Amino acid sequence: MPDPDARPSGQFALGGDLPVTRLGFGAMRITGPGVWGEPEDRDAALRVLRRLPELGVDLIDTADSYGPYVSETLIGETLAPYDGLTIATKGGLVRYPNNPSPWPQIGDPHYLRQCVHMSLRRLKLERLDLWQLHRIDPKVPQDEQFGAIRAFLDEGLIRHAGLSQVSVETIEAARRIFPVATVQNRYNLADRADEDVLDYCEAHGIGFIPWFPLAAGDLAKPGGAVDRIAQAHGATPGQIALAWLLRRSPVMLPIPGTGNVAHLEENVAAASIRLSDEDFATLDKAAA
Ligand SMILES: NC(=O)c1ccc[n+]([C@@H]2O[C@H](COP(=O)([O-])OP(=O)(O)OC[C@H]3O[C@@H](n4cnc5c(N)ncnc54)[C@H](OP(=O)(O)O)[C@@H]3O)[C@@H](O)[C@H]2O)c1
Repeated sequence: MPDPDARPSGQFALGGDLPVTRLGFGAMRITGPGVWGEPEDRDAALRVLRRLPELGVDLIDTADSYGPYVSETLIGETLAPYDGLTIATKGGLVRYPNNPSPWPQIGDPHYLRQCVHMSLRRLKLERLDLWQLHRIDPKVPQDEQFGAIRAFLDEGLIRHAGLSQVSVETIEAARRIFPVATVQNRYNLADRADEDVLDYCEAHGIGFIPWFPLAAGDLAKPGGAVDRIAQAHGATPGQIALAWLLRRSPVMLPIPGTGNVAHLEENVAAASIRLSDEDFATLDKAAA
C-alpha cells in the first residue's frame, strides 16, 4: 500500500470557487461514545486532527451537535487558523443530556442564526466556508429555513451553504432561494437509495458528501465482491468502499470518520487505489 496521501483523490471546487481535496474527514467520531461529550482518549483525537494536513486532507466535516460542541471546539483549539483547511459545519439539530439519542430538529431562523454565530466562535472564524442545514425542520415552513440561509450568505457569515438528507425536489426548492453548494446524504456501496440525488448533484456541479461511506454490508463478507477485490489490491474492504465512491462520481466527497490515527491513515491511503473498469463494474453490479 502506498504512503497515505489524500491528494490523488483529486479536487472539487465547492460552490465553483473553493477547491478541496475530494477525500475528506468526518469529525463526528472525535467525541465521546454515542457522539456525546468528550472523547475517551483526547490525545488520540488531537493526534487525528493534527495528522490531517500532513496527509493532504483539507476538507473537515463537523457539526455543532457532535458532542454537542465538542468536535467544533477541538477543531478550533487544534487547527485554527487553518492555513488552507476548509471546515464544513452543520446546524439545526439539538441534543439533550437526559436522553442524547434523539437529535431533534430546530429550524426556527433565529435559532439557525445562533447556530452560525456560535459555530463561528467555536471554530475561531469570521466566516464559515461551508455551513449545512443538518436537517430541514418539518415544523417550520422550509422556505423560512432557506431564507435564513440566503441571509447568512448575503451577510457574509457563511461563504457556501449545503443541505443534508434531502430529496431532489427539496434541493430544487432550495435552489430557488440560495445556491446549494453541497448535499450530504447517507450513501455507500450497501445503501444506494439516493442514487437520483447523486446524479442530480453531478449534473448541477453540487458536491455530494456521502455519510457512512465505509459501509459495504454483506459485500465485505469473506468471498463477497468487496472482499475479493480488496484481496486482489492488497487493500481492506473499507478502502475498496472508499475507492469505489471516489470513482463513482467526480462530485463525490467522502468523509470517513475515526478517532484513531492508524484508521485515518488506512482510509486516506484509499485515495491511491485505482479500481479497474472491471472492478468498478463488478462492485456496481453486486451493490445494485
Ligand atoms: N449529515 C448527517 O446526517 C450525518 C450523519 C452521520 C455522519 N455524518 C458525517 O459523516 C462522517 C462519516 O460518517 P460515519 O462516522 O457515520 O461513518 P464512517 O466514516 O463510514 O464510519 C465510521 C466508523 O468506522 C470506524 N472506522 C473508521 N475507519 C476505520 C478503519 N480504517 N478500520 C476500522 N474501522 C474504522 C470508526 O471507528 P474508529 O473511530 O474506531 O475508527 C467508526 O465507528 C461523520 O464523521 C460525520 O462528519 C453526517
